[in-house]
Amino acid sequence: MTSIPSGYPDDQLEAFALLATRDKLSIDDMKILALLEAAGETFYLAAAAAVDHPEAKDLLTRNGQEERGHAHRLLKALALLGEDYTLPADADNPYVQPMDLTGIINADLLSIIQQSEADGDLQYQVWADAESNEAVAKILRQNGVEETRHGERVNQVVALL
Ligand SMILES: [Fe+2]
Ligand SMILES: [Fe+2]
Repeated sequence: MTSIPSGYPDDQLEAFALLATRDKLSIDDMKILALLEAAGETFYLAAAAAVDHPEAKDLLTRNGQEERGHAHRLLKALALLGEDYTLPADADNPYVQPMDLTGIINADLLSIIQQSEADGDLQYQVWADAESNEAVAKILRQNGVEETRHGERVNQVVALL
């Protein structure tokens, strides 16, 4: 049975903003982060659907798959902390919203995404530094490093548009 932690904003940006105030992630924070990462897949797959260039599609799709992977790594981190948590179906994840990004993928939007990926890496490193369980810290660092790689792929997409 899956439960979504209560007391968190339903809005994705507000939830990110709240987590950004945390020096260390609590168990519930980590569950929320997993839900947000799963929603990241939806965003990137919608972005991939909205661009024509096959290589750009491929880069955005890979980012999306890795966001889903980040969510799964967080489930592993939760298990290491003694908490069994499974992701709800997308329909039950408040941060997953169907989106049509047709016509709005441009360099300006992508530069905002690139910046949020870079910020995401920094944020993950802060949480990793505060985490006393070394295996969990390693997972957080690994997710972070990949966020920077996502930003690099987004830059590649800008060059292809
Ligand atoms: Fe991620
Ligand atoms: Fe990312």
